[in-house]
Amino acid sequence: MGDIISVGIVGSGIMGSGLAEVAARSGYDVIVRSRTTAGADAVVAGLTKSLDKQVSKERITLDERDAVLARVTATDHLGKLADCDLVIESVVEDLAVKQELFSELEQIVKPSGILATNTSTLPVIELAMATQRPDQVCGIHFFNPAPMINLVEIIKPITASDDTIKSALAFATTCGKDAVEVVDRAGFVVNALLFPYLNNAVRMYEQGTATMDDIDTAMRGGCNFPMGPFALLDLVGLDTSLAILDALYDEFRDSNYAAVSTLRRKVAAGQLGRKTGHGFNQY
Ligand SMILES: NC(=O)c1ccc[n+]([C@@H]2O[C@H](COP(=O)([O-])OP(=O)(O)OC[C@H]3O[C@@H](n4cnc5c(N)ncnc54)[C@H](O)[C@@H]3O)[C@@H](O)[C@H]2O)c1
Repeated sequence: MGDIISVGIVGSGIMGSGLAEVAARSGYDVIVRSRTTAGADAVVAGLTKSLDKQVSKERITLDERDAVLARVTATDHLGKLADCDLVIESVVEDLAVKQELFSELEQIVKPSGILATNTSTLPVIELAMATQRPDQVCGIHFFNPAPMINLVEIIKPITASDDTIKSALAFATTCGKDAVEVVDRAGFVVNALLFPYLNNAVRMYEQGTATMDDIDTAMRGGCNFPMGPFALLDLVGLDTSLAILDALYDEFRDSNYAAVSTLRRKVAAGQLGRKTGHGFNQY
């Protein structure tokens, strides 16, 4: 397994776009695959806007901006990922969708390619077993917003080889991130600890303990958190948050992980947070 030079990203949502920016700014050749041409174009437009902002703040030069953009290609064709050394999928948090994608990637990506998932909670082993190369499958879990948050969790399913994990750790480090290695358990470290807190914040609001704004204010001020639980749920996306809680509950059967009904109802109503302009708050 050689060094990673080219990176494929599948998915053009919040995280797919962020991953493309991180990898391209770290010197990798990046191909982002979206299901539609409009989605692919939106990734490049979003990246250009983000880089322009960095130029105007004098954090990068115009030449650096152009060099990053030159390293990024967007496509709606999965076949374009054939020569990637590493492919990270970052599509919707749905096991069946991801399994189908991994079996397609198995057919397309060169045999030496590593296949990784950015899942927040799903069992990585179930994705590894959808391929003929389970030793070359792992989790590379970035956080939102990917360009700003310094942590990456590297998830090792029981089938992954040490070389795969070594390459994933080297990739995360080259991206300027602090990497921690975690076994393949739902929620890994961060979400297993974070989501009971977020879920219980919504429960507390349901019970009338305080308003949403006051719960956010309390947790910012009292714990010195950069944002309160409702602002964070809106940033993560309520659909993704619900999928995370459901996966945690499936694995641990702990009532702290049983998603409270307000969250489930909001998702049913299409109020998914910042990405739809309406979640617990309006945007
Ligand atoms: N939002 C976060 O804070 C966060 C943080 C870390 C990891 N993640 C993980 O990243 C992944 C993507 O989450 P996101 O927040 O970017 O979600 P998002 O809703 O912003 O984007 C989801 C992407 O999946 C694509 N998609 C939807 N249905 C699909 C299907 N049936 N087949 C193929 N593609 C499909 C969408 O077109 C979109 O590009 C999830 O696994 C999530 O758990 C999310």
